[in-house]
Amino acid sequence: MTGELLLEVKDLHVHFPTPDGVVKAVDGLSFKVHRGETFGIVGESGSGKSVTNLTALGLIDREKARVSGEVLFMGRDLLKLSAGELRKVRGKDLSMIFQDPFACLHPFYRVGDQIAEAILCHAEMDKRRVKARVIEMLDAVGIPNPESRYRDYPHQYSGGMRQRAMIAMALVHNPALVIADEPTTALDVTVQAQILELIDRIKKDFNIGVILITHDLGVVADVAQSVMVMYAGRGAELGARDRVFNQPLHPYSWGLLESIPQIDQKGTRLVPIEGAPPSLIHVPKGCPFHPRCPHRFEPCDKERPDLVDRGGGHPDACHLSIEDKKRLWDERESRRSKVIA
Ligand SMILES: Nc1ncnc2c1ncn2[C@@H]1O[C@H](COP(=O)(O)OP(=O)(O)O)[C@@H](O)[C@H]1O
Ligand SMILES: [Mg+2]
Repeated sequence: MTGELLLEVKDLHVHFPTPDGVVKAVDGLSFKVHRGETFGIVGESGSGKSVTNLTALGLIDREKARVSGEVLFMGRDLLKLSAGELRKVRGKDLSMIFQDPFACLHPFYRVGDQIAEAILCHAEMDKRRVKARVIEMLDAVGIPNPESRYRDYPHQYSGGMRQRAMIAMALVHNPALVIADEPTTALDVTVQAQILELIDRIKKDFNIGVILITHDLGVVADVAQSVMVMYAGRGAELGARDRVFNQPLHPYSWGLLESIPQIDQKGTRLVPIEGAPPSLIHVPKGCPFHPRCPHRFEPCDKERPDLVDRGGGHPDACHLSIEDKKRLWDERESRRSKVIA
């Protein structure tokens, strides 16, 4: 990636002490996001994706969580900012799109007025200019007849249009980075595709960075340029989209890839990953994936593999040798294509 470095997360830990034990929601996570790229974070539910995003946005209650590491956004460590300083960053240079737009839009206020409110949070502008800006943004996210749609209430919008309105709201202050947490999960498949297309287009038109968080590898396959696969609060694999999809290095990524339907390969057998993700209170020793891994061997239940480049061309956190990784993935691929033939 050549764009300006926007976000650098370094060795982030977010632990929640609870009566049952410490929940290690994020446990040593590092990654970088650049301007002009969509950075996909993928993992099963409960792998720590949302906690990562909420920590970056300063929305984790620091009284209840033990947080360490660095979250450098355009050079400043967000973990060191006061609540007031964070509010200035959030919604302006750094903004967010959540899964459920209904939960974020107030039912009693007109959509346009709510976006206007978001503008006035960070800027002083006269009424006419604010309204013009809202209409411009509604138009930019593909809402037809934005002048009349301005006056609608959220329930008068379809699900996809509500998500478009949320995206407009995230863009009003020309952010550098937008974090979208499962932005399409609540939508049906055709609308999902339109929203992903929109996110891809605004990334280009506004030249911003996007973090796209999803449990669905198919979603990042379409729009992300970089992908981080997360497992049990850690990074399992991190690389350019094409590399992660064509030469995945971690057995967990293989499992994820084999459990998504491929549009171009109708007969492909879908193989779910056996077992369930671990409790983040009792994370297995060594590699957290080892109890579910069909390729585990001697060091896997003892030594924790770091996420580093092990000769595979991009970082992965698996003890297997590069030769074994390539051979095992090729074998799995040929087994899959036999099912299709
Ligand atoms: N405030 C909290 N207190 C205790 N545990 C939490 C809290 N917030 C999240 N968790 C736990 O952290 C883990 C990761 O959650 P989350 O980041 O929401 O997963 P994901 O978004 O990948 O589905 C889960 O086990 C969740 O129960
Ligand atoms: Mg989540």
